[in-house]
Amino acid sequence: MTLSTLLHKTLIFSLAFCLGNTAMASASSGGKQAPIIAQKQRFLPTVGEHGMVVAAEQQAAEAGLAMLKKGGNAVDAAVATGFALAVTFPRAGNLGGGGFMLIHLAKEKRNVFIDYREMAPAGATRDMFLKADGEVDKRSEYFSHLSAGVPGTVAGLIYALEKYGTLPLKTVLQPAIELAEQGFPMSYALASSLQARKGRLSADPAAAAYFLRKDGGNWALGENFKQQDLARTLKQIAKHGSDGFYKGKVAKLIADDMRANGGLITERDLANYVVKERAAVVGDYQGYTIVSAPPPSSGGVHLVQMLNILEAYDLPAMGHNSAEYIHTVAETMKLAYADRSKYLADPDFVPVPVKQLTDKAYAARQRAMIKPNQVTPSAQVLPGKAMPRESEDTTHYSTADQYGNMVSNTYTLNFSYGSHIAVPGAGFLLNNEMADFAAKPGTANAYGLVQGESNRIEPGKRPLSSMTPTIVMKDQQAWLATGSPGGSLIINSVLQIVLNAIGFDMNIAAAAAAPRFHHQWLPDELRVEDGVSTDTLKLLKQRGHNINTDITTMGRTQSIMHTGGWFFGATDTRRHQGFVATY
Ligand code: DON
Repeated sequence: MTLSTLLHKTLIFSLAFCLGNTAMASASSGGKQAPIIAQKQRFLPTVGEHGMVVAAEQQAAEAGLAMLKKGGNAVDAAVATGFALAVTFPRAGNLGGGGFMLIHLAKEKRNVFIDYREMAPAGATRDMFLKADGEVDKRSEYFSHLSAGVPGTVAGLIYALEKYGTLPLKTVLQPAIELAEQGFPMSYALASSLQARKGRLSADPAAAAYFLRKDGGNWALGENFKQQDLARTLKQIAKHGSDGFYKGKVAKLIADDMRANGGLITERDLANYVVKERAAVVGDYQGYTIVSAPPPSSGGVHLVQMLNILEAYDLPAMGHNSAEYIHTVAETMKLAYADRSKYLADPDFVPVPVKQLTDKAYAARQRAMIKPNQVTPSAQVLPGKAMPRESEDTTHYSTADQYGNMVSNTYTLNFSYGSHIAVPGAGFLLNNEMADFAAKPGTANAYGLVQGESNRIEPGKRPLSSMTPTIVMKDQQAWLATGSPGGSLIINSVLQIVLNAIGFDMNIAAAAAAPRFHHQWLPDELRVEDGVSTDTLKLLKQRGHNINTDITTMGRTQSIMHTGGWFFGATDTRRHQGFVATY
């Protein structure tokens, strides 16, 4: 701690004392000294002592917390929250999708990465979404039975629980089963999101039956929302484990629905689904160890690559979100996203140069290409496309326990409500993750990301992802767990959380609330959130940046910082209903 920080902290302490806020400064929780939070920041985290779950929906966060209170660990909590979100947060919580879970195991001093990304069915082909004229059939790619990859969520959550959890499957599934069977009060967040998706959901009879009111009206706030078929599926899983989903009744419901509607997923595809444990991508930044998602996600590779490039700059001296800072970071983002389009894909199909891309010497060569006062226009080699507005699809949550373990989990159906197609009788939505492949290599996907041959569709392959569940370690202990939804925006949202927390000494709530910006190489535009001054934007324009401020907010991080024996949580204020559950 520098002298000035120490003096500052002392000042804050005395201020808090003067104001009578003694709870901040002295113990009131059984003897342990409560932490002092510097009040120079306008956003404060939620503080907990024994454990914490931060998720996009309250009841699901509380489901995880209930496991911690039973003495369960962060993995038990993560699995309970994952299943509960499938009930209470249907636009992204899921049984019919996939994702990635990063775990820090304190006792063993190691990190585990679980890949439960969807797999292309055996019948998938390179050109399956191309029309006769060679163009991509977007409806088929996004909103048909062909859109779905073989779901990985159930296998992934159960794998994590069996290998790294401590509680029985029935116990961790109980909150989800109860929420589905007995229902829960309709919230503004769910009601408004279902209202916005009414058109698409009503195109599929099963999705309409599960998520829309029978009379075609809007849900009233507080109305009880039950999901009986989903409860039955969850009970099958509680009884038979993974087989309750990938074999038997539920598998047959999925395969029958596929056969009847031109889909590809068969009972054999379901039985062949495999979870993969992979080595996490590891980097270091200013004395912290960055642990993040390896391929088939691009997240960790580019997070580490960007931090490597940025570590040579004195970012605090530039000033947070100053023109110089935004310019430097945005030029770095471009370099990383250009590499993404070329090198990243499923490592079981394509060799991905992870070591080279995360190498410090490579970063130094890339850094040399950044001009301090002038934009380098994105190479026009591949066509970009206007970026669509972000929808709230994927979801991230973080858990932490009293034993020092942490979990950082991001999972998704891809779009909000995935393909908007539900499996009749089984009660859950199917993903449209096949759209994360390059349906036509060299063209932009739904997130405007240009992807090449390496990410073409092949049977059994996993589509390239941007999901970036991340754990940052300090002195060999898990210090920060974070992650975000947002498609192509994910990696840069996580980058800015890490930079804000490490480089600018922000508490986790302030780090999450700070305005974000994004560049993804193509299209050549710098997206800047509300909250950056007009003067700064002018200076960026002078450097040649093509600024776009007509955008929705970026990402929805759910983060936990563990320091000094206390947990500090922040749910992103950019969306409704996120929750920090703690005790
Ligand atoms: O895996 C991916 O990168 C995408 N399927 C994630 C989609 C997403 O985050 C959309 N959320 N806003």
